[in-house]
Amino acid sequence: MLVLGIETSCDDTGVALYHSTLGLMGHKLYSQTTVHAEFGGVVPELASRDHIRKLYPLLQQLLSDTATRLKDIDVIAYTAGPGLAGALLVGSSFAKSLAFALNKPAIAVHHMEGHLLAAMLSDPKPTFPFIGLLVSGGHTQFIQADSLGKYILLGETLDDAVGEAFDKTAKMMGLPYPGGPILAKLAETLPSSSFVFPRPMIDRPGLDLSFSGLKTFALNAFQAYETQDNIRADIANAFQTAVVDTLVIKCRRALEQTGIKRLVVAGGVGANHALRKNLKQLLDSLSGEIFFPEPIFCTDNGAMIAYAGCQHALQGKQDLNNIITVKPRWTLHDCHQS
Ligand code: KG4
Ligand code: ZN
Repeated sequence: MLVLGIETSCDDTGVALYHSTLGLMGHKLYSQTTVHAEFGGVVPELASRDHIRKLYPLLQQLLSDTATRLKDIDVIAYTAGPGLAGALLVGSSFAKSLAFALNKPAIAVHHMEGHLLAAMLSDPKPTFPFIGLLVSGGHTQFIQADSLGKYILLGETLDDAVGEAFDKTAKMMGLPYPGGPILAKLAETLPSSSFVFPRPMIDRPGLDLSFSGLKTFALNAFQAYETQDNIRADIANAFQTAVVDTLVIKCRRALEQTGIKRLVVAGGVGANHALRKNLKQLLDSLSGEIFFPEPIFCTDNGAMIAYAGCQHALQGKQDLNNIITVKPRWTLHDCHQS
């Protein structure tokens, strides 16, 4: 079964072909970073328009690189949510229209499920059950994944997502957009920091998180010591260390609480080196297993949507109506209940 995956939920246009037995046949990604850079963040209307411009040429390139004809595609999987409404509508209109024209089924995929399963694009693949740590620009969640489509929310951020906190802290210190990865690079230029930032909510039971206080802590430190040499790197290091420590503490708690010894890290912040290193150490110390998507599949991409769509198609799920809808707000734990 050959599945075309289409991702347009935010500022990346992604397309990919995943074959149920041969694996990933090819993928193409176009990042809108330069479109949004001058505004310091994603401008939803510009994102929608750029998806319209780029989606069809990207698909043509993908088909040509993989010597695939449109009629070879069996299923069209697309991100139906969560994300920016206009951006999602571009992908879903495109996917549904193509499915209608080819007389093939479409499958609506939950963006975060795509992230959660992205580690399965590489070998060795994680098996169920596992704990998913979803860390992206819009989400920070602990998910207990019992089987395909059976996800229990164990805890989540009460305010900013961790990627959002990285981005806002970077912006506040005048770092260029996109701030998260740039702040992370700067943090790595120092072995440690002269600041110690708090580890939010570690003294409270449960698995909820909070990152907006850390951002304020960083702002106060920056305003107080702005003229000090290398202050940005010093704050970046303290911020990243506090975030990573907090996530490691809560991951340990999630694993102990559920008795599951398999952790899958997903989402854009999953590309962070310090987080990967520290979580690997944690799972080694617990004799557990840890899985990360390849860095290119940590951030938004079409391959994870094609993969998730393929797994659901293999289980008989399909969307045969011709109604184009999106779900800008859509929780992962009920994404297969309706
Ligand atoms: O999953 P993703 O591509 O998009 C969403 O669905 O949100 O995640 C993007 C987020 C951004 O906030 C970005 O700053 C952050 O992931 N990010 C990082 C790193 N690479 C991307 N944050 C920290 N360290 C990184 N290396
Ligand atoms: Zn994402």
